[in-house]
Amino acid sequence: MIEIKDNILYFDGCNTVELAKQYGTPLYVMSETTIVEKCTEIRETFLNRYERTRAAYASKAFLTLSMCKIIEREGLCMDVVSGGELYTAMKANFPAEKIEFNGNNKSVEELELAIDYNIGRIIVDGLDELSLIEEICKEKGKKANILYRITPGVKSDSHDYIVTGKKDSKFGIPLDDEVVFPAVEQAINSPYVNFMGFHFHVGSQLHNNESHLKALDTALKLIKDTIEKYKFVTPELNIGGGFGIKYTEEDNKKPYAYFLDPMMEKIEEFSKELNIARPEIVIEPGRSIVGEAGITLYTVGTIKDIKGIRKYVSVDGGMTDNIRPALYQAKYDGVAANKAGERKSDVVTISGKCCESGDILIKDAHVAELERGDIFAIFSTGAYNYSMASNYNKNPIPAVVLVKDGKSEVIVKRQSYDHMIENEIIPQSLM
Ligand code: LLP
Repeated sequence: MIEIKDNILYFDGCNTVELAKQYGTPLYVMSETTIVEKCTEIRETFLNRYERTRAAYASKAFLTLSMCKIIEREGLCMDVVSGGELYTAMKANFPAEKIEFNGNNKSVEELELAIDYNIGRIIVDGLDELSLIEEICKEKGKKANILYRITPGVKSDSHDYIVTGKKDSKFGIPLDDEVVFPAVEQAINSPYVNFMGFHFHVGSQLHNNESHLKALDTALKLIKDTIEKYKFVTPELNIGGGFGIKYTEEDNKKPYAYFLDPMMEKIEEFSKELNIARPEIVIEPGRSIVGEAGITLYTVGTIKDIKGIRKYVSVDGGMTDNIRPALYQAKYDGVAANKAGERKSDVVTISGKCCESGDILIKDAHVAELERGDIFAIFSTGAYNYSMASNYNKNPIPAVVLVKDGKSEVIVKRQSYDHMIENEIIPQSLM
């Protein structure tokens, strides 16, 4: 998807310097071709390979109305974690039965919205959530399909803020017998829900399948215990997302099959041993579908060369459009889009424009000689960039352009200064 022609960076057939000119910077650019390639890999190596499987795109990674349309067309389901994400999917007419709702603190209003819309699954994350759902369903004369998210108690190898499966976690139901079994019993016996089974998610940006496999063992034991205690076979198991992508040369990215094949093998063996139908298996990939499908274009501004210490090259965006380096010390690679073929003879720190020393996008980047006005592209910004953008320092959220085979279309307009203040009110007392 990334090519260099005549010293210029091309992305999905588009001249990125022209994109910057046409739409302005900072600019998020998403490659539809790459998104489709990832969905195709999921279909070919998982959905078509194993019967009774689903993939629910974790929309928190990147969600717009257009993204809903692509995900629907590619035959995937969608995982949402808030009323706002659910509303976006609804506004794009995403099929309700293909929506799954995660989240550790869903409000009554959010649950009502989900139940009114007849979404496919609610992943119950806390002990009192089931009772809330039961009350709402009772009142509305509905029955919801639910799973329990469990805390599998595994520690995966990623930044502490994005590991979610360890025991000390705000996510999931702890697996102490006296906690989990009463919850399971309540769900099995409830007239207001269909208890579909268990869900786990171990963490994000993983290149190693160990924690997935460990968590799977824990979930399988729970399925077995549920059969033994209640003679109830849970028909579904959701094994989450977390499949890592390539940000820099340091990332040893693996195909989906590396994670999924050994898990499927284990699940099939387990089902044979217990002589039960293999549960329907659901995955929730987010980052791996959109991460590498995005780049961000910036314009270079001030350059400060602190002799013998560091050269700061500031760009016109920063932690407001990509919080990940500041929040997780995430590493990125980039290139001067208008000097993409030139020798990388300089080492600089690409910094953002926010009033915050931590607003650094790339430390010690090897780049061509940069000057004011150059267009700088940062790679693999498709996941958790636009979706985590903020208005800090009242910086407007950049536009998003979707590109495909040399064509480009705006899918999110650039926020204007007026947009940013449109909800603000000056009370009479201050007039
Ligand atoms: N399912 C559940 C229940 C999740 O909590 C998550 C991510 C996913 C699926 C998708 O995981 P993925 O395939 O994208 O790794 N903002 C952080 C990532 C937070 C992920 C939270 N949960 C970042 O920028 O790295």
